[in-house]
Parts: sequence; C-alpha cells; structure tokens
Amino acid sequence: MNKLVGITRNFSSSASLNAIKTVTVVGGGLMGSGIAQVTAQAGQNVYLIDTQKEQLEKAQKSIKNNLVRVAKKTFKDDAAKADSFVKESLNRIKMSTALEDGVNVDLVVEAIVEKLDAKQELFNKLDQLCPEHTILATNTSSMSVNEIGSRIKRKDRYGGLHFFNPVPVMRLLEVVKGEQISEETYQTLMTWGKSVGKTCITCKDTPGFIVNRLLGPYSAEAMRMYERGDASAKDIDIAMKLGAGFPMGPLELADYTGLDTKKALLSVMLQKTGHPVFQPIGLLNRLVAEGKYGRKSGEGIYKYEKSKV
Ligand code: CAA
Ligand code: NAD
Repeated sequence: MNKLVGITRNFSSSASLNAIKTVTVVGGGLMGSGIAQVTAQAGQNVYLIDTQKEQLEKAQKSIKNNLVRVAKKTFKDDAAKADSFVKESLNRIKMSTALEDGVNVDLVVEAIVEKLDAKQELFNKLDQLCPEHTILATNTSSMSVNEIGSRIKRKDRYGGLHFFNPVPVMRLLEVVKGEQISEETYQTLMTWGKSVGKTCITCKDTPGFIVNRLLGPYSAEAMRMYERGDASAKDIDIAMKLGAGFPMGPLELADYTGLDTKKALLSVMLQKTGHPVFQPIGLLNRLVAEGKYGRKSGEGIYKYEKSKV
C-alpha cells in the first residue's frame, strides 16, 4: 500500500489558486475517509495518506460501502449508472502510507489525530515538500488554526476546513480564516467546499469555531448527567431525540465522534476558554484510558456489534 499503483505521481502541479483539481487528504480515519470520498464523488483526483496500512484498508471498505449508499439514492432506476459512479469514484482515490506520494497537489486537507505537536510536525513537512501553489488546510475540531500553522512559511495559503461527521451526509463546512490567509486562498477554499457539495460558512479562528463551541458544553453536560446517575444513557439519548428533535442523542453522538477525539476537544476548549463546563470528566477519561473510543473501537458509552462498527 505504500507504493502508488497505476497513476503518475503528478496529478497536477500547475493549477491556479482558483482551480483545485487534485487533493490530498492526510489521515484515513473517520473524517479523512469521508473527505476523500466526497472529493472523489465530485470528480476530483484524491490521495488518501495514513501511516497505518490497516486504516487505509478500513477506509477503502467504508468508502466503498458509503458510495454504494449514495449511488443507490442518486441513480435509483439505473443500476448501470450507479455501478459506474461507484467504480469511477473509487478509481479517483489513491491510497498510500508515504506522505511524499501525495505532495504534488493543489490542496492538502489534514485530518490526523487531534494533537498539536503531530499536526505541527505534519504541516512543517508539507510546507517543505509541496509545490509553491499548494494550499494547506486543517480539519481540526477545536485547536487554533493559527497555532497549528505557526511554523509554516505559506501562511497566506493556509486555513481551516472543518467538516462534520459523517462527511458524506453532513452538509456544513466551516471555513476558518487563518490570521494571514489571502483573500484569494479564502475564496478558493469557499469555492472548493461548494464543489464537494457543502454549504460553506466562515468563522474566525476561535475555540471550537461555531458548531463545537455550542455542541461541546451540551455533550459534556450529558456525560456528567450520565456519570452522576441522573438517568440512564439510553434515556438521556431518547430525551434529546424525542424532546428536542436531535437526530442522535448526545451520548450516541459522543461515541460516533470518537471519545478520544471528544476528550481532546474538551481539553483544548478548557485550555482556550477556561470555562468550567469543559473541566475533565472522570467517565470520559476512564473510557479513553481503557481504549474504549466509541463506535470505531467497538465500545464506548455503548457496546457495538462488530458488523455495525
Ligand atoms: N455515507 C453516506 N451516506 C450515509 C452515511 C455515510 N457514512 N451515513 C448515513 N448515510 C445516509 C443513509 O444512506 C441514509 O440516506 P437516506 O435517508 O436518503 O436513505 C441517511 O444518511 C440516514 O442514514 P441511516 O438511515 O442509516 O441512519 P440515521 O437516519 O440514523 O442517520 C446520521 C444517521 C446521518 C448519522 C444521523 O443520525 C445524524 O445526522 N446524526 C447526527 C450527526 C451529527 O450531529 N454530526 C455532527 C457531529 S459534530 C462534528 O462532526 C464536529 C466535530 O468536530 C466533532
Ligand atoms: P481518527 O482517529 O478516526 O483518524 C485519525 C487517523 O490519522 C488515523 O487513521 C491515524 O492512523 C492517522 N494518523 C495519525 N497521525 C498521522 C500522520 N502523521 N500522518 C498520517 N496519518 C496519521 O480521527 P478522526 O475522527 O478522523 O479525526 C481526525 C481529525 O478531524 C481530528 O483533528 C479531529 O478533531 C477532526 N474532526 C473529527 C470529527 C469527528 O466527529 N470525529 C469531526 C470533525 C473534525
């Protein structure tokens, strides 16, 4: 998997800032696989890079399954078109464990683990390896976009692209303006977001941007409520689905997001805002320490059947 098969290394190296034709997504987990999928669905060539071969194999399977779901809906009465949509989209995605395979593109979207040092190290490498015109973007859910990119030189060609889980379904994209982003880069990111089917909104580089600044406290309070034994996990989730119209309850959603990601998010929010609602939660810390990350690991607040993970 660390050798690219059947493609030239240079998808494109001469696109202008306003025409993103080739994309690399770094991190092939929940978010990266979804971002690669919607990019390929939109007709763009995409490299998906992950350090873990098994993650890429998992991503390959989930992208295929999700493309089939999209195809069934989009081409209800035309099985042949549905089939070629899936095949062509899959063919546009090339996977590799070597970052160098994905540097010669117009846009790189980073979707690796929510750890500042790991993200900074990756952006420093990308800044050195990518051609001049390449735009770099982070999908961080809570960290400062400026801090992640603080050591790169191309600050005018850098910003935040915050997608939502599951990426193929959630229609929002928060485009985060870095301190020194150029107007041209910002417009290019907005245009690209639309091209992959998202409604783009703009935010400043504030903790949690818009959605997580509001969802974070809600999620933390739900976990504390469950930890105190105020109600069962199931009843807390039913309450918010039937009483407030949410598609998922807060505890189901925390498992769906990934408890490791949720823990990192709350910790960054505490550090950045100092607000007590983001204080550590014993239950969350314990589950993460036990490797119970939620749906992706088979157990979190709930247990999952292997076939549904
Ligand atoms: N890929 C493609 N299509 C998918 C999909 C995927 N991964 N997951 C679901 N779908 C499609 C299904 O095919 C189905 O389509 P139709 O209704 O047209 O047939 C539709 O989505 C609904 O799916 P299901 O019937 O399987 O299940 P559901 O009705 O329970 O919906 C859900 C699943 C879309 C995930 C819904 O429960 C939901 O919206 N949950 C809330 C998700 C949410 O809040 N996300 C944001 C989290 S915050 C975040 O992401 C930011 C952060 O930084 C942490
Ligand atoms: P995940 O744990 O599912 O996937 C992370 C992947 O990154 C793993 O496959 C890991 O092997 C890979 N990785 C780690 N270091 C790497 C490196 N240096 N190079 C290449 N690959 C590397 O995590 P996720 O849920 O997909 O989250 C990824 C990012 O997206 C995080 O910053 C997170 O905060 C953000 N985010 C998550 C959600 C969500 O709901 N899970 C929503 C929006 C944004």
